[in-house]
Amino acid sequence: MLEKELLFPKGRIRERVKELGEQIASDYAGKDPLFVGVLNGVVFFFADLMRAISIPVKIDFIRAASYGSRMTSSGEIRISKDVEKPVRGRHIVLVEDIVDTGITIAFILNRMKEKDPASVKVCALMNKVERRQKEVPMDYVGFTIESGFVVGYGLDYNEEYRNLAEIYVLKP
Ligand code: PRP
Repeated sequence: MLEKELLFPKGRIRERVKELGEQIASDYAGKDPLFVGVLNGVVFFFADLMRAISIPVKIDFIRAASYGSRMTSSGEIRISKDVEKPVRGRHIVLVEDIVDTGITIAFILNRMKEKDPASVKVCALMNKVERRQKEVPMDYVGFTIESGFVVGYGLDYNEEYRNLAEIYVLKP
């Protein structure tokens, strides 16, 4: 195990997720939104966020496979699991644990727009800005971070650390 430093404790995550849920619920009241989680890292945030939203929600998932690990993202990407529910005419909220280079979410956003939804917005627990290559509108952001390799609460390093309840930065 590498050395790590606590970045966002449980209470802070819970509080921010609650705020995001309230904001989304108020923005989407009466719109029957479809929340699409970008697998795999998002599952922990997704489960908490959905329960923080007081209006009815529908859910689906998509998975983008990139070649190479997140630390050395090569930028090549494909959809390895697509959404299963119809998207046309629906209000879609894409949900991510982290947006880093922006390559994954930009690719998924374009794919989603081709399916002719009524609207598409992006919700990410963390917006990591230092390595951004693709500009995407970040509609709902939990935390903005500059740099550092973050793990926990869904985020992995070589598939480890995902089940930690809090978010840490790995020490280089
Ligand atoms: C992570 C994260 C985002 C993406 C962000 O997923 O969940 O989907 O990387 O990076 P980017 O903005 O540079 O594209 P990853 O591909 O590691 O898969 P995982 O969710 O299964 O960990």
